[in-house]
Amino acid sequence: MTLLTLLACAPETTPLPAEVEVPLHDVWGIAAADDHDADPHVVEVHLEAAKTEVQWVEGSPTEVWAYNGQVPGPLIHARVGDTLRVVFDNALPNDDTTIHWHGLRIPDDQDGVPMIVDPVGPGESFTYAFTLPDPGTYWYHPHVAANEQVERGLQGVIVIDEAEPPEVDRDRYFVVDDVLLSDDGRVQGHFANPDGMTVMMGRYGNTLLTNGSTELLVDTMRPGAVERWRLLNTANARPMFIDVRGAEWRVVGTDGGLLSEPYNVGKQEIHPGQRFDLEVLAPAEGEVVELEMVIDGTRYPVFSATVEGEAVADHEVDWPAAPLPEIVTAEQAIEVTLGADTSGSELLWTVNGEAYVEGDMVPVTGDVPTTMHLRETSGLDHPFHLHGQFFQVVDRDGKPADEPGPRDTVVVRGQGEVTIFTGFENAGRWMAHCHILEHAEAGMMTEYDVSDGGDGM
Ligand code: C2O
Ligand code: CU
Repeated sequence: MTLLTLLACAPETTPLPAEVEVPLHDVWGIAAADDHDADPHVVEVHLEAAKTEVQWVEGSPTEVWAYNGQVPGPLIHARVGDTLRVVFDNALPNDDTTIHWHGLRIPDDQDGVPMIVDPVGPGESFTYAFTLPDPGTYWYHPHVAANEQVERGLQGVIVIDEAEPPEVDRDRYFVVDDVLLSDDGRVQGHFANPDGMTVMMGRYGNTLLTNGSTELLVDTMRPGAVERWRLLNTANARPMFIDVRGAEWRVVGTDGGLLSEPYNVGKQEIHPGQRFDLEVLAPAEGEVVELEMVIDGTRYPVFSATVEGEAVADHEVDWPAAPLPEIVTAEQAIEVTLGADTSGSELLWTVNGEAYVEGDMVPVTGDVPTTMHLRETSGLDHPFHLHGQFFQVVDRDGKPADEPGPRDTVVVRGQGEVTIFTGFENAGRWMAHCHILEHAEAGMMTEYDVSDGGDGM
């Protein structure tokens, strides 16, 4: 054996195996999609949109539209920096659709908006592929007739792990939705031709679903456990409040990832499209912890956990927040007035006085500090959602806002004002709209054409 060979065998120089796959941790609550790619940094999932039936009303099946036969659709779970490939088949008999990746800062031609890439027709397929830029809690849904397609069940969840995920004892995902059902279990409504009240208020449901179930979800927690609970509101229109009873809890993450300073709050308001991650500390053996949604002041327990089993050693969890862009003096200001146009026979919802018409685009300079000043004139609240970017909420109704963290959806109250700050780092064409889906369909939508910034971003 030569000296060279010996050196090559010395432990210091032994290369690590090229790829050691550390399996992703389990996320409780929603069955995960299979990964069809052996490469640990590529996740390939197959999604099919099709009609199926679920049992929500006793004795009467409900026809839903679902991804892979489940409502909500399968969990897509990957790590930040991975490539996600989604082979999508539209098996709906009559409807065009797309998949929009709500919150992900990806290239605009993968964003699932029909203004850029044609929708996927019945019987057709499309493959979405992109790199996952940010860890966090996200979701996916159609961007064609979303008021109907999301309500009928096309909605699914995404978890993107941090480079070093916080070591929690359990990671759970809770999707809350209110669906409007008739007594015999049909998804009610005239989606193509909604009544005036629905256009005005948005569609409010009569059946609360948590992870697609009308029943209380149950599980156990270990004494002393530190858990991460991810909450998403997929209702067409209804805001709710989150409360946890029986445990200490705080908010550790918002739409776009973890917070550098988690906060305590009595109840956390959550609007359609928004996500909040909670840290929940299990109390002592025998106690019961409940997750409740508070709707119009009424509490609805949706999850109940008995604390039992072997105690977890006392520990704290670090929440590795990504640093947020510093809020500096804006070089660009965008005015956004959200309002209603009642001059015609039908109510229209507007941005800067106009109901959206495909092709309307607002030019925006990319990669510069920008404030967007959102102002509401009709008297109703609107969860305003911006695609392709994160923003921070700077002030609300003239006072500094107490709404930290990276966001993609913020409520603008009736007659209220909100200023948000964003860098528009992601060039491309990006929709912005009210996430009350009936408002978006009735015109409260716009599109920003964000230039390339010029410094090579
Ligand atoms: Cu979740 Cu353009 O939407
Ligand atoms: Cu609205």
